[in-house]
Amino acid sequence: MKTRSQALVWVVVGAQWGDEGKGKLVHLLSRLFALVVRYQGGANAGHTVKVKQNKYVFHLIPSGIIRRFCLCLLGNGTVIDPEVLLEEVKSLERRGICVRGRLLIATGAHLITPWLLKIEQARSAYLGKRGIGTTGRAIGPAYEYKMARVGIRAGAVRSSNLLKLLYKSLAEANRELRSRRQKPVSRSEARKFARVAKKLAPFLVDCSSYLNQEWQRGRKILLEGAQGGMLDVDHGTYPYVTSSSPTAGGACTGTGLPPTAISGILGVIKAYATRVGGGPFVTEIGDTALAERIRQSGDEYGATTGRPRRVGWLDLPQLRRTIAVSGIQALAMTKADVLDGLDEVLVCTSYRCHGRTWRVAPLELHDIQACRPQYKRFRGWSGVSGQTNLRKLHPNFRRYVEFVARELGAPIVFTSTGAKEHETVVCRSKIPANFKLIKELAK
Ligand code: GDP
Ligand code: IMO
Ligand code: MG
Repeated sequence: MKTRSQALVWVVVGAQWGDEGKGKLVHLLSRLFALVVRYQGGANAGHTVKVKQNKYVFHLIPSGIIRRFCLCLLGNGTVIDPEVLLEEVKSLERRGICVRGRLLIATGAHLITPWLLKIEQARSAYLGKRGIGTTGRAIGPAYEYKMARVGIRAGAVRSSNLLKLLYKSLAEANRELRSRRQKPVSRSEARKFARVAKKLAPFLVDCSSYLNQEWQRGRKILLEGAQGGMLDVDHGTYPYVTSSSPTAGGACTGTGLPPTAISGILGVIKAYATRVGGGPFVTEIGDTALAERIRQSGDEYGATTGRPRRVGWLDLPQLRRTIAVSGIQALAMTKADVLDGLDEVLVCTSYRCHGRTWRVAPLELHDIQACRPQYKRFRGWSGVSGQTNLRKLHPNFRRYVEFVARELGAPIVFTSTGAKEHETVVCRSKIPANFKLIKELAK
């Protein structure tokens, strides 16, 4: 029997503003893991995985579901719209991926009701351009209700009190809708919702007990982050953030696994930066032909909303902050192929702000907005696209990678050179001892 000493629990976190390529990396790593668990967020995530000619976009279900032997779990830190989840299950099953029996849902996850969606719509309509540009999936209201202790947990679908709980939440929501001069939601909507939500009953599990038991048994568990460090409600560019904790700390509160269970924290970064929605972006390239070229060749359009992503240069002060907050021990750099053919590539090494130099990004909005990027320029590269051999990577790109790793104090163990699983270079000599299992992927 396996023991706890052989156990392995790793966290994969996005270290920028989301869309770093977490889905691809989790799919790649899932070959090594028995369980893949989402620990926060909801269907605001869009994790794209390309396998042969197939493209899968996951909003809620962990990217590990593609591997037949992987069990997937939505942790108690997630917020779930039952209709969106059941549609995702159906669409995967139509494509030949068996989900039933391989997907579990924490009883402590919170449910997104139709009235929370209405609240988000009413608020964004009111705020217009002053809003933060959410994904419209009611993520903010769902976490608000959770914290205000009027949310509906997934476990409630088994309770004879379900309707009573729904009516209470509905009454709360209708007070806000009325005050915003919106039509209130009727109780029949709550009854309709209950019928759909009850379909989640067969998936339910006591997440913390289950995962602790699996950890003790030595099962390998991968915790899949959504969004990115700069969108963290505590550690991001508040208020231009999401409403959960994508940083590694969220992996414990969002699953019930203790901090002592975590044995590896891997950060995912793009070779450049992107952001969707509003908020400060110090290294943004702006509305230029160059930004458009990167957007087109990187296909930088939101997987959830289709919005064009804002594009910028790699930002080391920003990364120093998220790496510190999550305790990232190793990095995967994705999408360097997108920069193939550029004459030069810039990296922001520090900011100038209030007459001084900042090596770590400030946290407060009024400071960030005053920051100006200080750049180091690198000669461009070519031929990175699709490369699988470390020695064949262009020397200018290798200089870039070495510089970034040195500046960030974290080894870059994966370089992703395309969307497909095999379009990956594993840098064996840089793998820290706690990640030695990665060597299995390079065989
Ligand atoms: P996530 O939200 O972090 O999982 O990232 P997204 O899936 O939203 O965005 C990343 C996009 O880039 C997806 O379309 C991936 O298929 C794609 N992708 C991932 N890695 C690479 C890479 O190394 N090169 C290229 N060109 N595309 C990549
Ligand atoms: P993945 O997991 C990029 C952004 C939204 C908005 C802000 C708040 O694919 O990396 P929300 O709907 O969460 O209340 O919106 O956060 N956002 C993301 N941006 N990738 C994501 O997820 C995101 N999830 C939320 O655009 O600016
Ligand atoms: Mg995404």
